[in-house]
Amino acid sequence: MLEEIMIRRSIRSYINKNVEEDKITQILKAGMQAPSSKNSCPWEFVVVDNKYLLEKLSATHHRAKHINGAPMCIVIVGNSNKFKKAGKWIQDLGACTQNILLEVVNQGLAACWVGVFPKLKRVDYVRQVLDLPKELVPYAIIPIGYSLEENEFVDKYDESKVHRNKYNK
Ligand SMILES: Cc1cc2nc3c(=O)[nH]c(=O)nc-3n(C[C@H](O)[C@H](O)[C@H](O)COP(=O)(O)O)c2cc1C
Repeated sequence: MLEEIMIRRSIRSYINKNVEEDKITQILKAGMQAPSSKNSCPWEFVVVDNKYLLEKLSATHHRAKHINGAPMCIVIVGNSNKFKKAGKWIQDLGACTQNILLEVVNQGLAACWVGVFPKLKRVDYVRQVLDLPKELVPYAIIPIGYSLEENEFVDKYDESKVHRNKYNK
């Protein structure tokens, strides 16, 4: 099993150290390697490292406050011009987001998924903060930074959730 899958944690505190540009590029490349329905690649990314905007984004909702302590975040956005079948883009962006989280771990960094879509109030707020055109739908915000907390293994395996051939047989 990939070590990054096993040790990835949602980490919400970051130290005052910038993330190197080459690391940001690797993280974005990982996001864009994700599978997507009909290879539509319906994602775009807004890299935010402006303090004022980070503070604004941290007010998106009550579980977004930690964005303010991060040196940067990536806002993952769906491009509705590339949505082919209803609902598929949500799965595409989920795969993309997970790739990003795993590459963050591989780069020795910490992150935490902040949910935006499908809450329309959050979607409208983030769209307004970032001046996004209406075809772009904010999906998630990923604050990223170095942290004193470590990604560490927590065992989530639960055999009772595994079924063979038929449910509960
Ligand atoms: C769709 C989704 C939305 C989430 N939204 C938030 C959020 O808004 N704020 C937050 O602090 N954590 C958020 N999380 C992180 C979860 O709380 C976290 O993944 C969960 O508690 C399990 O912890 P772990 O990631 O360390 O395994 C979100 C995770 C997912 C998958």
